[in-house]
Amino acid sequence: MSDFHSVCKIQELQEGQGKTIAIGHKLIALFLIDGTVNAIDDTCPHMGASLSGGYLENGIVTCPWHAWRFRVTDGTWADNPRIKIGCHQVRVVGDDVQVQIASPEKRT
Ligand code: FES
Repeated sequence: MSDFHSVCKIQELQEGQGKTIAIGHKLIALFLIDGTVNAIDDTCPHMGASLSGGYLENGIVTCPWHAWRFRVTDGTWADNPRIKIGCHQVRVVGDDVQVQIASPEKRT
């Protein structure tokens, strides 16, 4: 089981906007929605854009380059639900946002 990593303070996140953080070489996009922090892979599987810079609406982020859409709660590609990107557990301890990197076998 992986450890949780402290990645930022909750005050650094803005409601409805994404933020990229790094855990080692892995880039993660954080999204604060209704006070809950969601974490998915930041790198779009199409051509590598940063999803944290995408347009967020109704829990779905639209990639800023070619508009592929991903649900931030579970990483599902909104236009093809059989495909997912990584989605990671988040907890907030005090004002520390902590992320646990999901191993590939944990994904559904
Ligand atoms: S890089 Fe994301 S849709 Fe093309």
